[in-house]
Amino acid sequence: MRSLIAGNWKMHGTLAWARDQARRLAEKAASGLPCDVLICPPATLLGTVAEPLRNAGILVGAQDCHHATHGAFTGDIAATMLADLGCSHVLVGHSERRTIHRESSHDAMRKAVAAHQAGLIAIVCIGENRDERRAGKAFETAAGQLARSLPADATAANTVIAWEPVWAIGTGDTANAADVVAMHRLVKQQLSALLGDGVRVLYGGSVNPSNSRELLAIEHVDGLLVGGASLDPDIFWQIATDGAPD
Ligand code: PGA
Repeated sequence: MRSLIAGNWKMHGTLAWARDQARRLAEKAASGLPCDVLICPPATLLGTVAEPLRNAGILVGAQDCHHATHGAFTGDIAATMLADLGCSHVLVGHSERRTIHRESSHDAMRKAVAAHQAGLIAIVCIGENRDERRAGKAFETAAGQLARSLPADATAANTVIAWEPVWAIGTGDTANAADVVAMHRLVKQQLSALLGDGVRVLYGGSVNPSNSRELLAIEHVDGLLVGGASLDPDIFWQIATDGAPD
């Protein structure tokens, strides 16, 4: 399966910074895209970077969406609006949405439905926190989140899963190979029972150029979701290069 390397800029960047990032990424893409590369800027920057990135063959996504197509939802953004800006993907259920904004798996599921209806690929994020892992409940938590976050209309074509253990996000504390092997195997088994084969499963959490190659070599790791390390195009491209087929 072709790897997907996704960069999540989170809440970073001005227009000038984003234009520069897009220019630098496009320059790198001009000498060949190693795999599917996706950038998820904050919503304020999508209008500026979507076109130059897409022209360079880089996919563009958003970090969240609302479940409705329109309406009185102050501050929210509909999936249809993201599609209109040139997005092909949207993250739903990221742990920062689940934790800081108290979003549930049911919320993530409704957002994924909205994404699909707008023609977007939903990247459904799941992951246990440190307490859940310490209590031996990592699998149970991730499996429960996956079952509740996946909409009935999910297919391998419109859905990507990202397992991002919360304790690994932004901490420098990447999951070890054995944990990644075990979790990705479980998620793939669950997905094959629910949706059939072919759904991409990404790993996320403190990915950087010194661990990306090892992570991508693990069976059932079909790509990476990169936060902090995606803010520097040189570093991000090193990671993306590891996504090239052997
Ligand atoms: P990180 O973030 O790479 O900075 O740990 C990953 C994410 O939250 O998607």
